[in-house]
Amino acid sequence: MLKIGIVGARGLSVANAIKARDDAEIIAMCDLDEDELKGAGKALGLDESCLYRVYNDMLEKADIDAVVIGTPMQCHVPQAILALQAGKHVMCEVTAAVTMDELWWLIENVEKSGKIYMYAENYCYMPEVQLVKELAHKGYFGDIYYAEGEYTHDCTELRNWHGRTGWRSYWQMGTRGAFYPTHSLGPVMACFDESERIKEVACFSSGNHNPYGLRNDDVNQAMCVLESGKLVKIRVDTISPRPHCLTYYQIQGTKGCYESPRTGGDHVIAVATEDNPQGYEKWRPLSDFNDMLPERYKKGGGEGAGHGGGDYYIVEDFVEAVKTNTQPYLNVYRAAEWTAVALLSQLSVTNGGRVIEMPKFRPNMPWEEKRIKL
Ligand SMILES: NC(=O)c1ccc[n+]([C@@H]2O[C@H](COP(=O)([O-])OP(=O)(O)OC[C@H]3O[C@@H](n4cnc5c(N)ncnc54)[C@H](O)[C@@H]3O)[C@@H](O)[C@H]2O)c1
Repeated sequence: MLKIGIVGARGLSVANAIKARDDAEIIAMCDLDEDELKGAGKALGLDESCLYRVYNDMLEKADIDAVVIGTPMQCHVPQAILALQAGKHVMCEVTAAVTMDELWWLIENVEKSGKIYMYAENYCYMPEVQLVKELAHKGYFGDIYYAEGEYTHDCTELRNWHGRTGWRSYWQMGTRGAFYPTHSLGPVMACFDESERIKEVACFSSGNHNPYGLRNDDVNQAMCVLESGKLVKIRVDTISPRPHCLTYYQIQGTKGCYESPRTGGDHVIAVATEDNPQGYEKWRPLSDFNDMLPERYKKGGGEGAGHGGGDYYIVEDFVEAVKTNTQPYLNVYRAAEWTAVALLSQLSVTNGGRVIEMPKFRPNMPWEEKRIKL
């Protein structure tokens, strides 16, 4: 039985998925805020003795094997490192870190600890994303050479937390660049070959035209060139007044393409097939290919879990990774590379859109690799 402690009320998003399993249970909860903590404890059915306001107390006193980190972005690395050093496995919310140095500290600590670290990029687990990924890996799009993702989410209402300036004012809307890219990047990167990596990042932005006095530009457009020379374009926009669209994606390959709905409508696909070689000329619903969904999605189990059931499967993969002692697909190296798109885009945008090289986030890298190459 994997005994889990959650830190940060956001971590509750995976609580039902954990509760639905017979090989994992939540036995402790931590939140700095007393009301949040009490509310979470009640929702989880935990006794008061299992609730902690101080994170170190939970690590030291609760008999947990793993921590789910659902606190603000700037807490992720310090809390993950403390957990790894205490011998706990970690599943951590997005983004993985807020500085480049933190990314290397995190990697070093995962490597030293031998524990599992999983990046909770739950958008990768949404059923449509899984279906498109399956089609991509089976060659339906041919050779994929371009993809884009967009996260347009007016977060300005979330600037304050309980009446005070909140963390999003600093780290999402208060920092330049595409600072929250991985919901857009993860699902499309998953469609490329697994060995594909990001080589360079450049970011351009619109300037600041809205009335809030925030540091972040209204629109940030990050261009990621992959090691193969292929291109991924990411838009992050947390300020513009417009309806939310957190999950816009596009994939283009030599045999056809896919687009998710941007303003309503269906997920659509246009691909050449053996019986319809001109199939790339006309959109058809993605649901025509539903029989290609990964088997576990067809079998069910994730009904009712967040993100179209995806939150159920992310927990399943975390628990399986721990049980089999195998780092998951969303390992610390991918977490670092995808998060570094945020951090390097900040450097790029503040240097006139300069192209910045991505460090090689791979196992056991030498010191020379752990710097920003200007
Ligand atoms: N994957 C997703 O779909 C998704 C959606 C929303 C937020 N997030 C991520 O989840 C995280 C939390 O976001 P949120 O919107 O829930 O934030 P929030 O500010 O609403 O909640 C954060 C909680 O963490 C607690 N907290 C802060 N510092 C703490 C500390 N040092 N120790 C213990 N508890 C502490 C706060 O009291 C609060 O209850 C962020 O990293 C965000 O990027 C992910």
